Amino acid sequence: MSDGVSRLVRKLKGVVGDNHLLRDTDLTAGYSTDWTGRFQGHTPLVIRPANTAEVAEVVMLTAEAGFAIVPQGGNTGLVGGSVPLNGEVVLSTMRLNDCEPVDQLAQQVTCGAGVTLARAQTHVASASLDIGVDLAARDSCTIGGMIATNAGGINVLRYGAMREQVLGVEAVLADGSVVSHLEGLEKDNTGYHFPSLLAGSEGTLAIITRARLRLHPHLTDRCTAMLAFDSVEDAVAATSALRRSVTSLHAVEVIFRDAMHLVSQHINSAVPVGTNSEAWLIVEAAASSDPTEELAVAIDSLGRLVADVGVGVDSSSRNNLWQYREKVTEAISAKGTPHKLDVTLGASKLADFVTQIPAIISAIDRGSSVYMFGHLGDGNVHVNVLGSGGNEPPEAVDAAVLEYAAKLGGSISAEHGIGTAKKEFLHLNRTSAELFAFRSIKHALDPRQILNPHVLLPSEDS
Ligand code: FAD
Ligand code: MLT
Ligand code: ZN
Repeated sequence: MSDGVSRLVRKLKGVVGDNHLLRDTDLTAGYSTDWTGRFQGHTPLVIRPANTAEVAEVVMLTAEAGFAIVPQGGNTGLVGGSVPLNGEVVLSTMRLNDCEPVDQLAQQVTCGAGVTLARAQTHVASASLDIGVDLAARDSCTIGGMIATNAGGINVLRYGAMREQVLGVEAVLADGSVVSHLEGLEKDNTGYHFPSLLAGSEGTLAIITRARLRLHPHLTDRCTAMLAFDSVEDAVAATSALRRSVTSLHAVEVIFRDAMHLVSQHINSAVPVGTNSEAWLIVEAAASSDPTEELAVAIDSLGRLVADVGVGVDSSSRNNLWQYREKVTEAISAKGTPHKLDVTLGASKLADFVTQIPAIISAIDRGSSVYMFGHLGDGNVHVNVLGSGGNEPPEAVDAAVLEYAAKLGGSISAEHGIGTAKKEFLHLNRTSAELFAFRSIKHALDPRQILNPHVLLPSEDS
């Protein structure tokens, strides 16, 4: 351990306690590698403060000692933003795990940043309320991480992304000062809006310690259908029609052919409908009375657009359909270390993108395999690429996919963020004037480059 780290540890012992200062590589390893295994860093120290005051003290002392900090929640981020790739200190939010009682009158809750999504969901369910964002990493991802990445997930078409759920935040800035605005007022035009600024800031502007979230009435009745399509165009057209006609529409998720066959092998269950199709939608309707009839009528009126349909009404048959979507990520990781490219396209460009991408990738590396799936209701396609033998594909693949998305007017990051994986591609979507404004904000709030200095913003000379 270097002298600088030893001195810092001595000072921090009085703040968080020795048990929450991890130095042995056996203990820090899990904090240094990301969920996919693609991003592997190293850290001299993991610090686990228990409350906002401790976070503030930790930030001040760590900055004074000259170390940069990577804030880390559940470490489920997919763009290499949550791990110490340059030997930074890791500040884990796992002990910021208090949920205040649900404010039933306002339909809001205040949670610590380290509360997992699943725990927050269970907590608010006792008041028959739901969190507006849901995603498959729910057992590990945290409220703070979800705000910092502006997470999307499966219900964006109904409730919006994480930014829309956050009414207030408490956060520690890079100089250790605390900003706290947790009243949860629906209208509050008193200047710059910290929740908006911090949503999607990926740990570069502040460490979120608590958040006030808007909640939604729990919808008791659900119906889930899997629809198979002979072409990507048909799946896109059906999505548009369903969005127009189904008032109880809760999710429209997509799995394209190769991803469907991979997940079906992985879970050892046959493709439920339309084995030879090109695309499958998982469509969910949710309401406070049975939405089955509304969904059935809408699916019926899609006529010959749909090649085959399977329906789940009780929770076991619904879960059976959902596993084909929720287990794709795991199925891909079981085969190797993918590059994860997460793009959004306008509806009119989606079919072009999905149809062209395999040829674009194969022209660069014939050995790569491409798996596509995502949130079609939001125009969000996840392009996952494995190189031959499950190794990482060549970097040129990332450039080609992201450039093609940008050329079609799409975004190079729909919901995962920029992290370290995509920062050198940010110019595809952001002008130099925008990047200058981004840097100015970062410089104003973190002039000493303490908070996640290697994330989001590209190097100055690129
Ligand atoms: P981490 O991975 O720990 O951190 C992510 C980023 O946020 C890092 O830059 C980190 O520095 C920063 N950060 C974390 N906590 C704080 C804090 N308190 N203050 C400031 N900065 C902080 N994402 C989606 O959007 N939609 C999906 O559908 C989706 N599905 C997923 C499914 C699986 C199986 C997996 C593994 C991931 C999925 N993700 C999805 C990605 C990931 O779960 C989200 O990005 C999530 O929001 C990350 O939360 P986390 O707590 O794990 O954050
Ligand atoms: C998903 O929608 O399943 C996630 O964003 C995870 C992924 O892209 O692998
Ligand atoms: Zn996703």
